[in-house]
Amino acid sequence: MSSDLHPDDLPAPNIAAVRDALQRPLHDLRISVLDQCNFRCPYCMPEDEFHADYEFLNRQQRLSYEEILRIAGVAARLGVSKLRLTGGEPLLDKRIPTLVKGLAAIPGIDDLALTTNAMLLAPMAEKLAAAGLHRVTISLDSLDEDVFRRMSGGRGDLSRVLDGVSAAQSAGLSPIKINVVVQRGVNDHTVLDLLEHFRGSGHIVRLIEFMDVGNRNGWRLDQVVPSRQLLQKVRERWPVRRVDQNYPGEVARRYEYVDGAGEIGFISSVTEPFCGDCSRARLSADGMLYTCLFANQGTDLRESLRNDADDEELTDILSQIWLQRADRYSELRRPELAEAHVLRKVEMYRIGG
Ligand code: GTP
Ligand code: 5AD
Ligand code: SF4
Ligand code: SF4
Repeated sequence: MSSDLHPDDLPAPNIAAVRDALQRPLHDLRISVLDQCNFRCPYCMPEDEFHADYEFLNRQQRLSYEEILRIAGVAARLGVSKLRLTGGEPLLDKRIPTLVKGLAAIPGIDDLALTTNAMLLAPMAEKLAAAGLHRVTISLDSLDEDVFRRMSGGRGDLSRVLDGVSAAQSAGLSPIKINVVVQRGVNDHTVLDLLEHFRGSGHIVRLIEFMDVGNRNGWRLDQVVPSRQLLQKVRERWPVRRVDQNYPGEVARRYEYVDGAGEIGFISSVTEPFCGDCSRARLSADGMLYTCLFANQGTDLRESLRNDADDEELTDILSQIWLQRADRYSELRRPELAEAHVLRKVEMYRIGG
């Protein structure tokens, strides 16, 4: 296989849309470009484990852009129409607009998004938009300075993040979604202020139940604020009504303010799992393909790529993985097992959520 293949050279997309063992199509590929992050959110990369000597993947271990483009191109032929770039923090990679440009050119991709903590977004927003990025999702857990700092592991600067949000808006990277992981006793008391701030802005705040991802965040069920409770709190302040989902398998349940001030989403993976329509595959920065956020094993695509697998072989590998997929972790999870951390799972920072 020539290594200078360009995505435009691939045959028409969607030639063989695959379905998994539970009849779910493959729609969404989430690509982690690197495992490093400039934050140390305690629920994701606690500082005591991800300290100065922690060994992150080096350049050689990470997939090259060319390798990522090849996998994304093959995935598009199998039905993927949505790509999301994640990390760690993807904007630590300054060359990322080049990757965005390549991904945007893949036939069949109609949604190209990036998840970021927005610390580095302001100076990059225009370049990302010019390269073909459609939209950004920003992780922002609180607008209370102290709470925000604590939840970013002492590294976040709120005003820079808010500058990032504004820059994304000016660059047209919308709809902008604001992801808020809600943890009881940590930031739940600041949620209404955050909603108030973004009401009328056009940005969509999504309140996320704290999940038992990975093995390092000390997850406990009593730290989860069920969406139903949050919705109740929201309703006591503003009337809201349900809105239909945008697409099958959307993770957020959508609501809108009755007074027209915009949309809120609830992501309830713990109390109301949504595996039934899950059409997401996840590629880690070192080229492992995972078919579930809670997977304990993946498939090493880097090895195949570096052993000169051609596109036909890669298509075959990907479709076999998907055909055999039967994951539905959130539906099967038993909180007591999750709490005891007896299940080995991939870490969130490796696959970007
Ligand atoms: P949109 O395309 O904008 O609807 O967002 P998305 O579905 O790509 O969601 P996003 O990446 O912003 O993730 C929001 C939250 O939902 C994060 O906490 C994710 O970890 C969680 N999430 C996303 N996909 C899944 C999934 O397949 N399973 C579970 N359990 N959680 C998910
Ligand atoms: N539970 C829920 N969401 C999480 N995220 C990271 N860790 C968790 C967790 N344990 C979120 C990030 C980001 C998204 C990709 O996943 O805040 O917004
Ligand atoms: Fe970084 Fe996001 Fe993990 Fe926080 S949640 S440490 S911003 S990757
Ligand atoms: Fe999909 Fe796994 Fe999340 Fe269920 S738990 S929605 S199968 S990623």
